[in-house]
Amino acid sequence: MAGIDYGERIPNNVGLSENRRLQRALEEWQPKFLDWWRGMGPTGFQEKDVYLRTAVSVDAQGWAQFDWVRMPEYRWGLFLAEAEPGRTIGFGDHLGAPAWQDVPGEYRGVLRRLIVTQGDTEPASVEQQRHLGATCPSLYDLRNLFQINVEEGRHLWAMVYLLDAYFGRDGREESEALLQRRSGDRDKPRILGAFNEKTPDWLSYLMFTYFTDRDGKYQLASLAESGFDPLSRTCRFMLTEEAHHLFVGETGIGRVVQRTCELMREGKTDDVRRLGALDLATLQKYINFHYSVSLDLFGSEASTNAANFYTMGLKGRFEEAKKRDDHRLKDATYAVSELTGDRITIREMPALPSLNERLRDDYITDCQRGVDRWNQIIKKHEIDLELRLPHRGFRRAIGLFAEVKVAPDGRVLSEAEWDARKHEWLPTEADQAYLQSLMRPVTERGRFANWIAPPPRGVNGQPLDFAYVRLG
Ligand SMILES: [Fe+2]
Ligand SMILES: [Fe+2]
Repeated sequence: MAGIDYGERIPNNVGLSENRRLQRALEEWQPKFLDWWRGMGPTGFQEKDVYLRTAVSVDAQGWAQFDWVRMPEYRWGLFLAEAEPGRTIGFGDHLGAPAWQDVPGEYRGVLRRLIVTQGDTEPASVEQQRHLGATCPSLYDLRNLFQINVEEGRHLWAMVYLLDAYFGRDGREESEALLQRRSGDRDKPRILGAFNEKTPDWLSYLMFTYFTDRDGKYQLASLAESGFDPLSRTCRFMLTEEAHHLFVGETGIGRVVQRTCELMREGKTDDVRRLGALDLATLQKYINFHYSVSLDLFGSEASTNAANFYTMGLKGRFEEAKKRDDHRLKDATYAVSELTGDRITIREMPALPSLNERLRDDYITDCQRGVDRWNQIIKKHEIDLELRLPHRGFRRAIGLFAEVKVAPDGRVLSEAEWDARKHEWLPTEADQAYLQSLMRPVTERGRFANWIAPPPRGVNGQPLDFAYVRLG
C-alpha cells in the first residue's frame, strides 16, 4: 500500500486501475493540466533537466527519490497517507463515529467548497512564481524553486483527485475551473487575496514560502483532522511536502540575514545597499507586508463558517487529537481581540466561532520561531537590532482590524498618521526598485548572488557546486 505504482499513466497508491470511471476522468484532465503547466508554469526552463525529488512511497522513511527530470515529465500523481484502521471522527457533533469513507450527503456543498478553496491556492502560487527563474541567485535556489513548483502542482492533483473521486459531475467542473482561474487576473482571479499578489523578486518569494506557505501548513493540518477520511489522508501526505517549502523560506531568509550581517560587520555600516545587499530595515518591511497578507488568509475573528466546519466534523483545530478537552467546544471560550474606540483589548468569546482566530494564534507562534532564529544570526554578529512580527492588526484587510489603521507596535492610528508613516513600515516603490536592481541571475555552479549567503549544505548530500539545473 505504501508503494506507489509508477507503471501507470498516473502514478498512484489509491488503486486507480480498479476504478475505471475515475481513471477516465483523471486521464481526461491530465492533458489539460499539462497545457496549464506549459503555459503558466516556470517560464523558460521547461526543457531543462532539474535535480528533483519524486515521491516513491508514503512511508515516513525514504519516500523520496532524486533524479534529473524535465519538469513537464515530472510524475505527478495521487498519494494518500496510510489508512488508520478503525479511525473515528475526532471532534464536533459526530465525535467518536467511524470516519466517513464517502462524502456525507448533508455536507457535500460545504466540503466541496473547502477542497476547492485549498486546491485553488496550489496552481496560484505556481503562477505567481513563474518568472522567478530568470533572476535566480544560484542553481541551488533555482532547483528549490522548481521543486516547490512541481509539488504545488502535485497538491493540485491531490485536490482534483478528491473532487473527481467523490463529487461526481460538480467535482469535474470544479477541477476544470481550477485550471481556468489565474493569479492576479481581474476577470477570473484566484479565490484568496494573497494568491493574487505579485511575487516579483526573490525576497518576496522567500517571504511567501515562509509566511504564506505556512498558512498552507495550518490549513492542511486542520483538514488532516477531518472526519472525511480521504481528505485527511490526502492532507497528511501533502504536509510532508509542505515542510520542504517552509524549510526553503526559513533558511532562505536566514541566508539573506546572514549575508547582510556579514557585510555590516565587514563594511562597518548599516547601509549595506552601498555594498549591493539588503539592509535589515528593508527586510523588516517585507516581513511586515507578507505577514499581514498571510494573517488575512485565516479569515475573520468571528466566523460561523469556522464554527460549522468544526461542528460538522470537517475541519478540526491544529493538532486536535493532542488537545485535552471535550472536542465539542459548545461551552468553551477563547480569548479574542476586540476594538473599543481606538483601544485594542482582549475578551473571552465563545470558542466555536473563534476557531479562525485560534488557528491564527497557532500560526503566529510558529512564525515567531523562525524570526527568533533569524535574530540569533543577527546577535551572533554582535549587531544590536531585532526583526519583529508586526502587531496582528497591522495592515489587515479582513476581520476586525480591516476597519482601522494599526501601527506595527499595535497603536491604533488616524488615517493621517498612517499615511504619513506607512513608508517606514512597508516596501516603497524605491525599495522595490532597489530590490529589482539586485535581481541578476547567477547560474555558475557553486556561485551565489551577493545578497544571499550560500546554504550550509547542498540538496540530498550533493555539494554546493553541483549542477542542480542543467542549463547547457
Ligand atoms: Fe501546496
Ligand atoms: Fe507549499
